[in-house]
Amino acid sequence: MGNWTLDDIPWDSFDRSRVDSGIIPIIKAASLVEYNAEDYRVYLNRVFDGDNRLQAAIDSWAEEEVQHGRALGRWAALADPEFDFETRFGRFRENFRLQLDASVSVRGTRAGELVARCMVETGTNSFYSALADATDEPVLKSICRRIADDEYAHYCLFHRNMRRYMEHDRLSRLKRVRVAFGRMSESEDDELASAYWAANSDGQAYDRRANAAAYARRALRYYRPQHVARGVEMIFNAVGIDGRSSAGRLAAGAVRLFVWYRLRVATRLLVALVEARRRFVRPDSAAQQA
Ligand SMILES: [Fe+2]
Ligand SMILES: [Fe+2]
Repeated sequence: MGNWTLDDIPWDSFDRSRVDSGIIPIIKAASLVEYNAEDYRVYLNRVFDGDNRLQAAIDSWAEEEVQHGRALGRWAALADPEFDFETRFGRFRENFRLQLDASVSVRGTRAGELVARCMVETGTNSFYSALADATDEPVLKSICRRIADDEYAHYCLFHRNMRRYMEHDRLSRLKRVRVAFGRMSESEDDELASAYWAANSDGQAYDRRANAAAYARRALRYYRPQHVARGVEMIFNAVGIDGRSSAGRLAAGAVRLFVWYRLRVATRLLVALVEARRRFVRPDSAAQQA
């Protein structure tokens, strides 16, 4: 288990006047995704069957992720007393289930799986760092800072083990880059969209694109250049590119462009697509998808 518990959070310092109402829906969605780490624990334990040391570390990792979910869920209920975490989590689980019957990584190799895990932890470290810097609400700031530190420690755990597996799997740099970009491209996948829907909608039918767009529109406004730069540095470390070499500087520009595309262009296109579709569908089916 990590180095903090829910008792270390200064809950009494909660200051409603400093809550940015725009942040509440994404904290609710994040709480459900984090709390769902048990499925990933099962999946990763299958992928790393026989590696007892890493399996033990994965168990501790999953406990920390679940604790992130509890902390965020408790804060969300302070900010919105109508938020019923357990009910919303049940709704999320009904709509989204991870494929757990894998015996090998969906990334092809164990080293590839660990590259993908590094990408996920890079994403969460950037996300919570951005939220910690953006919010003035002291309890949320404290939670997000602690979680961001944990996510960085998780990155280091998976990175360390990736280097160990690289000796056996011999994953080329190109393959690592492919896995890394592949995982980053999944960021608007069903999981986040489902969590956003389960946490925030009341009675509306699930629409993956609309909810992915709504989540992205709310979340991405908190990122600043330093969060993107730090994320690029972590991605480079995972795929084995020296950011100081001339090829590395060129690659850094390409990755920043890609991240900028993901954060700005792709999100706006998605939002525009969803809004255009809403405008052109019949009113009765529009009512169902609202
Ligand atoms: Fe987490
Ligand atoms: Fe994590």
